[in-house]
Amino acid sequence: MEKEVTENNGDSILELTNIKKSFGNFEVLKDINLTVQKGETVVLLGKSGTGKSVILKCIIGLEHQSSGKIAVFGKEFSELREEEENAFRRKIGFLFQSGALYDSMTVRQNLEFPVIRQPDYKKEDLTERVEEALNNVGLIDAIDKFPSELSGGMKKRIALARTLMLNPEIILYDEPTTGLDPVTSNEISHLILDMQKKLKVTSLIVTHDMPCTHLVADRIVVLKEGEFTAEGTYDELSKSKDDFVRGFFEFE
Ligand SMILES: Nc1ncnc2c1ncn2[C@@H]1O[C@H](COP(=O)(O)OP(=O)(O)O)[C@@H](O)[C@H]1O
Ligand SMILES: [Mg+2]
Repeated sequence: MEKEVTENNGDSILELTNIKKSFGNFEVLKDINLTVQKGETVVLLGKSGTGKSVILKCIIGLEHQSSGKIAVFGKEFSELREEEENAFRRKIGFLFQSGALYDSMTVRQNLEFPVIRQPDYKKEDLTERVEEALNNVGLIDAIDKFPSELSGGMKKRIALARTLMLNPEIILYDEPTTGLDPVTSNEISHLILDMQKKLKVTSLIVTHDMPCTHLVADRIVVLKEGEFTAEGTYDELSKSKDDFVRGFFEFE
């Protein structure tokens, strides 16, 4: 699975090469290699505490890998100047595990927030953009509500709408359905699928939700002991001869 480092090879939108990450003596990521093509949805499976969130955090720059290269749109972050790097990072949307909305702000204010922090934002289109993002997640009626007035599923949708405000080309989802009831999980999974179709975004999704995985994944990678141990479609991996891999697919 190893590759030469990061020349722009056409449609590769995200490329991780030989990523290692340690916290003190604890090596969480040993050798992570992953290429995601434009428009593709990749699901990342792995047990709890094995480094899935750390991978996403390295991609958006909340953590820094100990070694290895991360390239987005064929450019390596380490080669970019700071302002260029910020512009690149803006193309990557991130839906946190908690979905963290600002409780003291209305939905509209929550959605405006990431935009008004951008140096080049245009005040004129802001209302239109907020409405468009809310329409995309089917929650335009919640525009003047506060987070405390919304259900868990609605908060997730609003968090996704907020992520969409900066027109990301890649969305990283960290356990988007964890903690939601099965019906709401299913709604969120369909919403992710909708975003893929409507906005053609590229997605990398960390989840344990196998119905969600079945619905949205073009390709699945399985993390084990700091490396990807398997890669394939849902059908391929569900028939894997490796008990560890197949274990993810044996659920009721
Ligand atoms: N900032 C940090 N400092 C120290 N250890 C960390 C830090 N972030 C994550 N870890 C450790 O790295 C491991 C992987 O964490 P994480 O990526 O959050 O797991 P998960 O696969 O459940 O998302 C865990 O053992 C966690 O305790
Ligand atoms: Mg995690």
